Amino acid sequence: MSGRTARVAGAFRERTGRDPDGVWAAPGRVNLIGEHTDYNDGFVLPAAIDRLVRVAAGRRRDGRLRLWSLQTEPPADLAVAEVGPGRVEGWAAYPAGVAWALGRAGVEVAGADLVVDGDVPAGSGLSSSAALECATATALADLHGAELDRPTLAALARRAENEVVGVPSGVMDQMVSMLGRAGHALFLDTRSLETEQVPLPLEEASLRLVVLDTRAGHRLVDGAYADRRAACEAAAATLGVPALRDATLEQVEGAAGALGDPGLRRARHVVTENARVLAAVELLRAGDLDRLGPLLAASHASLRDDYEVSSDELDTAVEAAVAAGAVGARMTGAGFGGSAIALVPTGLVGPVADRVADAFAAAGFAAPEVTAVIPADGAHRLA
Ligand code: GLA
Repeated sequence: MSGRTARVAGAFRERTGRDPDGVWAAPGRVNLIGEHTDYNDGFVLPAAIDRLVRVAAGRRRDGRLRLWSLQTEPPADLAVAEVGPGRVEGWAAYPAGVAWALGRAGVEVAGADLVVDGDVPAGSGLSSSAALECATATALADLHGAELDRPTLAALARRAENEVVGVPSGVMDQMVSMLGRAGHALFLDTRSLETEQVPLPLEEASLRLVVLDTRAGHRLVDGAYADRRAACEAAAATLGVPALRDATLEQVEGAAGALGDPGLRRARHVVTENARVLAAVELLRAGDLDRLGPLLAASHASLRDDYEVSSDELDTAVEAAVAAGAVGARMTGAGFGGSAIALVPTGLVGPVADRVADAFAAAGFAAPEVTAVIPADGAHRLA
């Protein structure tokens, strides 16, 4: 048992006085490109990363869920039957929501003790929520002998987030936390849920995937994410298409008057971003990682100017990384704070980190955290 696995198992024993029945884990993610496209039936290209939420779990038969986190207070003790939309407060809504969603899928959760230990920083845009949901979903499904495939587990993890936590997120984060594969990015069509594991041979290309965490936390439960989603639905209705996935740039620009501002810009972001994902997948299939830079730059500019979900910190991080020699950089995840990613030549990781730190200091921002991450496997059992 590795150090972190033993630690969460030990924490479980301390709190419950017994051994866990197992330890499960699910990763956070970065999104290489395809931002704010997943709730428009569009394309995304995320990668699971080597930052995990681990869950030590033990069965109960009394219908109670007892939940502890080594990172977040307070613990929770609730009846599975009490869980539902709007009925659980705080971090416990994520794991409890998963138990509820399993119940809706026909797996009656008989109760469980769960101890959670994560190293996906919360609020940094790296999907600590999806990692927690997916680790819990695999743990509870295994404990109850439920043979659900990974897309099904991802769908019910998302349902927990949408309905019990109350964040209207798309399905990207849960899909990649379930289906990620080491050394690969996951090309996902969020309409058909078709996936393709696309090799991401960073080492062969002498590149590192670097996370620039602005430490300016974001909170998706705030209204801005839901506002963007509503704007996209309104734009699709104006254009007479089922989702913005179905619109062309010509259609969007031709309807400028009807879409108005910011409707036109919101729709233009989604349509151009979908095209950038397809172009990025082509480059990766050809092994041309070096040529991703312009697509990352265009994605960031579109998120900043048309979609308006970047922040001064994210813009500063992206500019500084590119100025220090990154092949490309862009904000990742929902935005409004959180993290950017950069593709950095191996020898330049230090200089990029320094340049970003200097730019933050000069701008009077809190110090950023710059770390390389590795594309990793999706949810799995550790012990
Ligand atoms: C969050 C959501 C995802 C996706 C991204 C933006 O991470 O959970 O579903 O919408 O924002 O691309």
